[in-house]
Amino acid sequence: MTPDIKPLVAGNWKMNGERDKLDQLALLAAGLDAELAEKLDLAVCPPATLLYVATTLAEDTPLMVGAQNCHAEVEGAHTGEISAEMISDCEADFCIVGHSERRTDCGETDADVAAKVKACWRADLTAIVCIGETEAQYDAGEAESVLRGQISNSIPDGAEEENTVVAYEPVWAIGTGKTPSPDDIREIHAFIREELAERFGGHGERMTILYGGSVKPSNASELLMIENVDGALVGGASLKAADLLAICEAYRKT
Ligand code: PGA
Repeated sequence: MTPDIKPLVAGNWKMNGERDKLDQLALLAAGLDAELAEKLDLAVCPPATLLYVATTLAEDTPLMVGAQNCHAEVEGAHTGEISAEMISDCEADFCIVGHSERRTDCGETDADVAAKVKACWRADLTAIVCIGETEAQYDAGEAESVLRGQISNSIPDGAEEENTVVAYEPVWAIGTGKTPSPDDIREIHAFIREELAERFGGHGERMTILYGGSVKPSNASELLMIENVDGALVGGASLKAADLLAICEAYRKT
């Protein structure tokens, strides 16, 4: 945690969830009582097909909603793509950009990610920018240099705590059940904070830095209390409201 930064827990449903999963949103909204909602922000990022229904269901609740990706352009001949403006039109608050699955599956480069971040800002969305090293890079001791490059090239000038959240997700921890040790996470988040502060000054000091990669109810209290871990980006464990709420419970006594 970082003093004065309200933690954010964001659930990334990835390519999971049809309409019958929408009941999970009602359960989340019901489970996020006033005491918990004071302590943290909770967002769910369902597939684009459910986005507008999700924001409609979340209306008048503290639950927030995000998308998982956007195109950099406003509109045009880009079959199958969705612009940040369209996401904003669905009344979403956030958009994840540069998730490692998109960097790998769709060949997204840092420059592509930076263009998408700018698109989010243009459409008044908060960008959740994902960065993280692969297992080979981690083993070769290259994590910091990889992260430095991703921070420099995926996050455009003008990033502030109001428009950008950074999510550190070691690729080897995503969906594997493996996580770095708490000491490793402390060290890497301190490094990310330093890089952000150097680049963006006070804005970097106040920017939310999430940890992502195999966060679940059983490890949430340990991981989320680490300095400079200002919340979590949760994949698998976000699909069930009970699990995501159990992760949020880590903040109740803070
Ligand atoms: P996981 O995914 O929680 O299933 O490891 C995290 C993510 O990819 O955002």
